Amino acid sequence: MLRDNKELWWAIIASILITAFYALIMSVTGKIPAAGELFGHSLGILGFVLMILTETLYSLRKRSRSTRWGRMSDWLQFHIFTGLVGPYMVFLHTSWKFNGLAGAVTLMTFVVVLSGFIGRYIYTRIPRTADGIEMDTPMGDAQAAAIANARRLMALWHTVHIPLGMALFTAAFVHIGGALYYATFLK
Ligand code: HEM
Ligand code: HEM
Repeated sequence: MLRDNKELWWAIIASILITAFYALIMSVTGKIPAAGELFGHSLGILGFVLMILTETLYSLRKRSRSTRWGRMSDWLQFHIFTGLVGPYMVFLHTSWKFNGLAGAVTLMTFVVVLSGFIGRYIYTRIPRTADGIEMDTPMGDAQAAAIANARRLMALWHTVHIPLGMALFTAAFVHIGGALYYATFLK
């Protein structure tokens, strides 16, 4: 169960540290870190690795149905942490230029993150065990209709968030292939 906002606080702290480092590099070099140069490139790669972890780890844990790998609720908190910090690093990687496909990938990343917040909100409306497993609602419960509604919304949300994530990764891989070919290897 997402009882506290711990993961959001950790994401804010990590983002502040990354911003401080970004500002330091900017003040030393006197320019905005370019997407294809060492620092900007590293931000893109590391951020993208975090995004891949976001896309895969929670789903794997959810499907394993075994507690051996830790609580599902902890994995969801980690999902949200990496799902915020990864896109933030990728955002700093862009060097504030959003042309063509790479610009579209940035926009899709932003939409997936935003939809994550909506999902997080609906998720907390559904009664769960401490591990994050959905609980049955007793018949006749005064709030049963509201909970049934939240479950329907959650299902609908999945049909948007998941395909959008897949489209994002497909487009991201095309950007990465193109950027590495034209901007890195051809140089
Ligand atoms: C979701 C992840 C990513 C997003 C949203 C993204 C977005 C962007 C954006 C907006 C730009 C600037 C394009 C412009 O000049 O208008 C850019 C440039 C670039 N990106 Fe990414 N990027 C991502 C991941 C990566 C990764 C993982 C790599 C490398 C493995 C990479 C390599 C590059 C390179 C080399 C450039 C510079 C291209 C040039 O100088 O023309 N990107 N990226
Ligand atoms: C790079 C960004 C992100 C990607 C690629 C991503 C991807 C996904 C995927 C593939 C799932 C489906 C898991 C499954 O049911 O197997 C999921 C679920 C979820 N994500 Fe994200 N996500 C991202 C960011 C976020 C953020 C920032 C939040 C919250 C602020 C969030 C909250 C959630 C929630 C609440 C669920 C539903 C959990 C459940 O129903 O069990 N996500 N995400």
